[in-house]
Amino acid sequence: MPSAGVPLTPSASLLSTPELTRLASLFLARGVDKIRLTGGEPLLRRDLPELLSALTSLSPSPRVSLTTNGLVLSRMLPALRAAGLSGVNISLDTLHAAKFERIARRKGHARVLAAIQTAAEAGLDAVKVNVVVMKGVNDDELPAFAALTEHMRVDVRFIEYMPFDGNRWSADKLVPYADMLDSVARAYGRLERASDSPNDTSKHYRVPGFLGRVGFITSMSDHFCGTCNRIRVTADGNLKVCLFGREEVSLRDAMREGMADDDLSELIDRALMRKHWMLGGNKDMHVLAKQPNRSMIRIGG
Ligand SMILES: C[S@@+](CC[C@H](N)C(=O)[O-])C[C@H]1O[C@@H](n2cnc3c(N)ncnc32)[C@H](O)[C@@H]1O
Repeated sequence: MPSAGVPLTPSASLLSTPELTRLASLFLARGVDKIRLTGGEPLLRRDLPELLSALTSLSPSPRVSLTTNGLVLSRMLPALRAAGLSGVNISLDTLHAAKFERIARRKGHARVLAAIQTAAEAGLDAVKVNVVVMKGVNDDELPAFAALTEHMRVDVRFIEYMPFDGNRWSADKLVPYADMLDSVARAYGRLERASDSPNDTSKHYRVPGFLGRVGFITSMSDHFCGTCNRIRVTADGNLKVCLFGREEVSLRDAMREGMADDDLSELIDRALMRKHWMLGGNKDMHVLAKQPNRSMIRIGG
């Protein structure tokens, strides 16, 4: 959470549930089969269970999951499960309550830990814990995070710190994949390499004998742009074909101006055809860090 907080987007600027389901239908018709709601913070949306039901009732039916700060997840999980939720990513950067309050600028660490446990026991297809690793902040906590996978069927994913507007990124705060892997291996010995699916963003491993897995998202030191098939729509309706690309197309405005489905599909196709082959058209992370982009909280993940 930036020190200045985040200005809230007026709700009239956000996509309504009918607009979201209309866009989802267009994407499903073009072969998308998984939808992830990220926010802002998706659990703050009052009609989230209704939105989930509307999305999971579409045909062909997608898998729908969430990325959340986890603060109110335990309370909402039964309604979300009933609405067809298939998986959840919970963001947590530290296992220390005081450090959590400094990073997230709020209380609630115990509630996030409880939410991970509740989600792991809820019979979801996938429960992932997202840990953004920052040098000097939480890079000493990787073995403790990996310990969560001993008895819980969760994927703990260590994410390389990426540059976005306002997050004071610098290369020396980045802990590269090789160092993260080394830190876990030093604590547990050799890790087993688990299999990855073709479009996974994470490189998966398992501590031998543990129930869950650890994964590494190596966007900076070993990018996977060539197999990335993610397409993002921001909460305010902008299509973003690459997390690192500055180019955006307002699908919200096109819909509100009365554009027909075929033309919307064509608008989406044209944007996809302009997608850069790597890192949003930047030759490396240093150039990327100088390029204006949204802040991560305004992209959603
Ligand atoms: C921005 S949050 C939004 C969704 C939700 N509010 C949450 O807290 O999970 C989505 C994900 O982006 C990750 N993230 C944020 N800043 C990042 C950065 N600089 N580098 C890599 N991942 C980042 C977070 O860890 C989180 O898992």
